[in-house]
Amino acid sequence: MIFSQVFAVRRALAVVIAAVGLMHAVGAAAEDGYRLWLRYDPVAQPAHDPYAAQATRIVAWGNSPVVTAAVAELNRGVAGMLGTAPPASTTVADGAIVLGTPGSSPEVARRARDLGLAAAGPEGFVLQSTRWDGHPVTLIAANTDVGLLYGSFRFLARMQRGESLAGLDLHDAPRLTLRVLDHWDNPDRSIERGYAGQSIWDFWRLPGYLDPRYTDYARADASIGINGVMVNNVNASAVYLTPSWIAKLAALAGVLRPYGIHVYLSVLFNSPLDLKETKTGDPRDPAVIAWWHAKVDELYKAIPDFGGFVVKADSEGEPGPRDYHLTQAQGANMIAGALAPHGGVLMWRAFIYASENTQDRVRQAYAEFKPLDGQFAPNVLVQIKNGPLDFQPREPAHPLFGALPHTNEMLEVQLTKEYLGFSTHLVYLGALFSEVLHWDTFAHGAGSTVAHVIDGSLDGHTLTGMAGDSNVGVDRDWTGSIFNQADWYAFGRLAWDPQADPRKIASDWVGMTFSSDPAVVTPLVGMMMASREAVVDYMTPLGLAHIMGTGHHYGPGPWIDDLKRPEWNPVYYHHAGRDGIGFDRTPSGSNALADYAPDVARRLSDPNVDDAKYLLWFHHVPWTFRLASGRTVWDELTYRYSRGVATVHSMAGTWDSLQARIDPERFSETAAFLRIQQDEAQWWRDACVAYFQQQSQLPLAPGVAAPPHPLAWYESLVFRYAPGRSQPDPDHGIAH
Ligand code: GCU
Repeated sequence: MIFSQVFAVRRALAVVIAAVGLMHAVGAAAEDGYRLWLRYDPVAQPAHDPYAAQATRIVAWGNSPVVTAAVAELNRGVAGMLGTAPPASTTVADGAIVLGTPGSSPEVARRARDLGLAAAGPEGFVLQSTRWDGHPVTLIAANTDVGLLYGSFRFLARMQRGESLAGLDLHDAPRLTLRVLDHWDNPDRSIERGYAGQSIWDFWRLPGYLDPRYTDYARADASIGINGVMVNNVNASAVYLTPSWIAKLAALAGVLRPYGIHVYLSVLFNSPLDLKETKTGDPRDPAVIAWWHAKVDELYKAIPDFGGFVVKADSEGEPGPRDYHLTQAQGANMIAGALAPHGGVLMWRAFIYASENTQDRVRQAYAEFKPLDGQFAPNVLVQIKNGPLDFQPREPAHPLFGALPHTNEMLEVQLTKEYLGFSTHLVYLGALFSEVLHWDTFAHGAGSTVAHVIDGSLDGHTLTGMAGDSNVGVDRDWTGSIFNQADWYAFGRLAWDPQADPRKIASDWVGMTFSSDPAVVTPLVGMMMASREAVVDYMTPLGLAHIMGTGHHYGPGPWIDDLKRPEWNPVYYHHAGRDGIGFDRTPSGSNALADYAPDVARRLSDPNVDDAKYLLWFHHVPWTFRLASGRTVWDELTYRYSRGVATVHSMAGTWDSLQARIDPERFSETAAFLRIQQDEAQWWRDACVAYFQQQSQLPLAPGVAAPPHPLAWYESLVFRYAPGRSQPDPDHGIAH
């Protein structure tokens, strides 16, 4: 095992080096999106020469795999953009890019105080235009090699975006400790809720074959500061914990390691029982405890920098501590105890609801976790989805944020568009992620935003994090569309700095992916920022939620009412009838409002707050209820559905107007996807207007178009083989 691991690591390093140049060579031939935002296309004059004067050579002290990766990236980037690879050198000269840590360079050690390196922490960096032995240079300084890698990517990003390299004095460090991409990938390479092809992890051919794609994937992650990868589905298979799969994982870890990335596994709570190595999964059973300790020791022997586990317990059929009449904390702490001696962490998911529980689904996780505050081990993070339901186009923030001051809380967002039109809809998720990060929990008065909860500053936590459910697959463009790449990019940027402006992130992404010409950036950023409100409007306006088709979650299905569990049925969520629409979560209903801090509850009890964004999430109102807009709820609903469709039309128009400025390959694919989005937005609007009109029995306001088909037509549509479902669910069938 040890030997094979050593070989695997060596092979991984060989691949890292061999892959240098590959991405560029392949990408240059076709605009297929493979190069992501790391395009490194030639820079024209007048920008070329000033850049060239500031990238004459690379002087890097230290030769660790991480430093080697940083130098390789600088080489690739500068060669691509300026036409010549800067030579590696040990002598500083004018225009050198100098990389050093206090440990590798006495000069950096000497300057550490002036540079303010203490504030850079273990992963931050300083990028500074300075003089070194009298020579003007760009210094990339950090406390660790990973900081140098991040600084190198930042240097290249500035060139890619046409920004100046003169007079730099840039200090940056990530605000969160764990910035993890969660892959919901199965051992057979299918991906739960994946819309970009199969899994990039080819476990079958690991550890013998290390696909060069792993390296390009790691480069992309590192370029945006992602430092963790959970490789497998939260609905976990225990196979990953068997010796031969641990060897495969170790080989993969070897490829990711030079990019500062730790691997994590999602594990089944009942793993030892599932593998038939114990007679129970009971966390009190000494044999079970011993099994977990031995298994974790085995993992760390193979992967010394293994990150830890993610657990989905007691949710959607997964086993958990509840099966043994124990609390979530008791279950979590047993597994955390095995990880603690190795410095590993446990991300324990709060996504819990139960069929036998008649309580409003959005209250169940709060009810279960709130009383457990302070009971979780120090190396446990409770991982909380952005909203209390399930990654809808819009949800209020999860009430658990700020409600567990004595617990490490991390945020989970979904990059893959399970509920947002799969891979073809252009919906920029940076705007959605940022909305929740800016949500004020009022846990300690105004300013207690989710960003401050998860960066630890609100309650003084140092173990912090954010997880993103990945949208990556083997599609040539990685994410199923060019614009979905922006969601991966935005996730990394927001996990690095939860306060970052989503508009600026979009603009940086456009600059690197398409062009930094304002004639391209301005319209595309406008289109991206509008896209999130558009999807809310054409799918679930005014706080509606979960009215998608059953099982696959494709297309509208607000009429569905025949599924076994009440909370699987869209009618459970919208409560539309002759009397009105909406889920009453005020004190006269489920009182989910009470799970929020009093200031928040007070705000949300106003139906018009925030442009009535959350109206039907919290209130059941008559169709004739008049909103601040002056329209009745019925008219507002149809107005917003139509507005969503109109926005998609104007997005398509914006895109079409840029044809001359975008390469034909990326232009035509995106144009085609926007047509699909237009058609599907129209379908969503028409089906929902037809259905809700049947409930309201009210006429459409003048100028609002009637749906072209009767409701029964929309209800009759069947979608077989919709992507993203790892197993057909017998409860759901494929009929919906
Ligand atoms: C959603 C999704 C599931 C997923 C689950 C989770 O319910 O539909 O496929 O497993 O979220 O996050 O655990």
